[in-house]
Amino acid sequence: MSNLLRGGRIGSVRKDVVEFTASIKSDQKLLEAVIKINQAHVTMLTEQNIIDSQNGAKLLAALAEIDPKKELDQTLEDVHLAVEEEVNKKVGLDVGGNLHIAKSRNDQVSTAIRMTLRTDILELMNLIVKLQTSLIDLAEKHTETLVPSYTHLHPAQPITFAHMLVAYIDALERNLKRLEETIPRVNMCPMGAGAIATTSFPINRDRTTELLGFSKVLENSIDAVGSRDFLLETLASLTLLAIDISRMAEDLIVWSSPDFGIIDLPESFAFTSSIMPQKKNPDVLEVVRARMSQVLGNFVASATTMKALPSGYNLDLQELTPKLWESIETVAASVVMLSELAKNLNVNKGIFSKQILNYSTTTELANLLVKQYNVPFRTSHKIVGAVVKTLLDKNLALSGMTPELLNKTAKDSAGITLAVKLANIKDSIDPKKFVESHKAMGGPAPAEVKRMLKNRLQLTRQSKTSLKEQKSRLEEADMQLKSAVQHYKLQKK
Ligand code: ARG
Repeated sequence: MSNLLRGGRIGSVRKDVVEFTASIKSDQKLLEAVIKINQAHVTMLTEQNIIDSQNGAKLLAALAEIDPKKELDQTLEDVHLAVEEEVNKKVGLDVGGNLHIAKSRNDQVSTAIRMTLRTDILELMNLIVKLQTSLIDLAEKHTETLVPSYTHLHPAQPITFAHMLVAYIDALERNLKRLEETIPRVNMCPMGAGAIATTSFPINRDRTTELLGFSKVLENSIDAVGSRDFLLETLASLTLLAIDISRMAEDLIVWSSPDFGIIDLPESFAFTSSIMPQKKNPDVLEVVRARMSQVLGNFVASATTMKALPSGYNLDLQELTPKLWESIETVAASVVMLSELAKNLNVNKGIFSKQILNYSTTTELANLLVKQYNVPFRTSHKIVGAVVKTLLDKNLALSGMTPELLNKTAKDSAGITLAVKLANIKDSIDPKKFVESHKAMGGPAPAEVKRMLKNRLQLTRQSKTSLKEQKSRLEEADMQLKSAVQHYKLQKK
């Protein structure tokens, strides 16, 4: 237990109470940021002559000695006290006792979460781009692979596997943008807000903000310590991403079922049953699907915690932080699993030999009557529906349809005299021709999907460049902090 905050207002405290209340278990992730914050803060205090440069140098040297990977003493309350304790151990209370001038754990913790989060978001974005790239690679192999699309989970119309994959790539692109758009609001600096009302010391908030690589000061000090909308916003973006990932996992689970038979999961991603030897179960995808629910749960738990919280800092805020880390790590791990799976996925290229799937071309049969025989669409929809019913009643495939049957049904169901040619029927119920003819923008025609893929590949290249730039901006800020610290550390001698 730390005695830094004992023996004043509060005398003794119970170990079990500290343990219950502490955030130390999930603070390890913040240690690196907390060290940097202290370094930037001391640098600023020294530049402002709030502490003299000799003491500033001693503090900076002590801070620089703390290993950012050091395991935190789990008996302490939190990372903030852990760092202060460590500095005091090295330089004594006379010098170390001024480390906390003009700051509070309240501004410090929000700053540390923001610093850690902005890097995590960039890393997650990088993983999303990798997943998009795996999906593009897979799609390029399947621009001609016919598969059924589904509405209501019943076969709808023929598409290609690549067409389906572009849908995922595009949803991921929107998630990517959403995450990127949260960064400016994450990347604001609360330091200097103190506990709630700033400080009477002549601090320079702009300088701390700059040294820590933030793009802006989070100005109002009450807002700075008491707001977590940046965190909720990230959790919300993660939740939307999780929903898309979960649906992707769900699709793969359904398609890999032998009843559907559209894909075959790589063996290294499947598990068998302990009793049923024939089983090849999609366990990985089921875990992905379940964990994505937890991401939604974390958002709901955090939003609920916030909604009736009085302004300013309350310790409730502490309880949000582990939810954030859990969500971002869970989503990241699932994105990696899906990327790896996509690299190894086998797709059934002959699924349309299943007779029942051929019924999914009947929209085109209805279109045929409109295009070539001048029948209004609503009427042709009725005629073709009636033919389908007759064929199904007789247990026949769509290919079992004859011009005679179609012409007779037209007469019986709509009172129309038709003389449809067999060749026309054959063409319109061919799934390959169906897909080729659906070449409107965004459709499954191979040429259209190839065009989309080319464009999506370009987008991933742009994302990679932008991510590199954002990462190097943070690295530059780190360098700037290091050299500022170095400048004062030298004065110690
Ligand atoms: N452990 C706390 C957190 O994670 C740090 C801030 C504590 N502030 C306080 N006034 N008790 O939010």
